[in-house]
Amino acid sequence: MYSNDNDLRLLLVDDERMSADMLLGMFAGESDATLRCVHDPDSAIAAALDFKPTVMLVDLRMPGVDGLDLIHRLRDHPATAAVPLLMLSTEVDPHVKAAGFAAGAADYLVKWPDRVELTARVRAHSNACLVARERDRAAAALADSRTALLRRTEQLAHAQAALHEAQKMEAIGQLAGTVAHDVNNILHIINGHLQLMRIENPDERARRRIDAATDGVRRGTQLTTQLLATARGNSRTSESIDLGAFLRGIDGTVFNPAGAMPPCALDLASTPSCASLDPIELQKVLAELVKNAREATSGGGAVTLVLDSEQVAPRTAQVPAGSYARIRVVDTGAGMAPDVQRRAFEPFFTTKSGVQGAGLGLALAAGFVRKHHGHIDLESRAGHGTCVTLRFPLQAG
Ligand SMILES: Nc1ncnc2c1ncn2[C@@H]1O[C@H](COP(=O)(O)OP(=O)(O)OP(=O)(O)O)[C@@H](O)[C@H]1O
Ligand SMILES: [Mg+2]
Repeated sequence: MYSNDNDLRLLLVDDERMSADMLLGMFAGESDATLRCVHDPDSAIAAALDFKPTVMLVDLRMPGVDGLDLIHRLRDHPATAAVPLLMLSTEVDPHVKAAGFAAGAADYLVKWPDRVELTARVRAHSNACLVARERDRAAAALADSRTALLRRTEQLAHAQAALHEAQKMEAIGQLAGTVAHDVNNILHIINGHLQLMRIENPDERARRRIDAATDGVRRGTQLTTQLLATARGNSRTSESIDLGAFLRGIDGTVFNPAGAMPPCALDLASTPSCASLDPIELQKVLAELVKNAREATSGGGAVTLVLDSEQVAPRTAQVPAGSYARIRVVDTGAGMAPDVQRRAFEPFFTTKSGVQGAGLGLALAAGFVRKHHGHIDLESRAGHGTCVTLRFPLQAG
């Protein structure tokens, strides 16, 4: 056996030791060929598994073995099924040759052909085997890259949908901001005149009317202020905050005003989570989310505000990889139907009737998170509850 590790790898299955010597002699000048000889046909498959031939020569007449049966076995085994198999025999009967081809042989050589012819035939079949292997490898690589391409196309479609959604929100937010600004100016004028009327009008009934109108103006101003905050994200005074300490330090009435049910429980991780945020706006946003959660649990359920940190791995669906401080407002209330969930972040989208809801709480939260380079998402199931998650880039504490 030659020890060169070249492309042509010939496995001979023949009980006659002389055949091996003949073959070794014939391939003596072929420096790129490696040969292995197996004398026991039953060990042919084991040898093929180990040797990985590119072509096999099988003797048709061996004691105690039906050559055609051996060819069938070699054709059926995955280790040898695709390796070209050349029969070697002293038989010249065309019927024997035909039976060999029918069994799956690729060629038939009558012992012994001329050296030039034998090496040329063996090489041609070996090359065909190598080309087929290369083709199979390329096909597998193509299938892999097609799968990768499909995955990337899907990711791109998701990213485009998210971008479209973000642009829509931005546009609505900006429009709302412009309108809110103008309406605010008008409300200031009305308020000024109402105050003057109040001073100039001592009549009690008229004063009551003026007070009612002033209250309406106050509610309108609240709304426009909220709208402006939504549009701008209000990141005036960002500072590094240890969120655990911050949330513990907030006056209890922010999350649990008098009479509000159910109480909002705090579940704060003991490890510090620091982020650069505007604390006043953060408090407002969390109060809005707790308000939503509490409204959703009016028929029963619990509300919890959870703080911890999260390491988001690369290739996670929607959140860019990184370390985040994570605040979750979790409730076990009414939850949202899928169509509500889809639109929940849209400014002015509300399912609450009358003056109860302006549809700005979640839009405000989304604007705030965007301005602080964070991420917001919500998971909800109708009848089971909702979890709104805010993530902010974690700072070294
Ligand atoms: N925790 C929650 N559980 C169930 N539905 C919710 C929850 N949070 C928000 N929603 C749904 O999303 C909608 C939009 O919420 P958002 O806070 O933006 O506005 P709103 O609560 O309707 O009004 P506003 O907050 O301005 O008073 C709500 O009307 C409600 O249908
Ligand atoms: Mg709300």
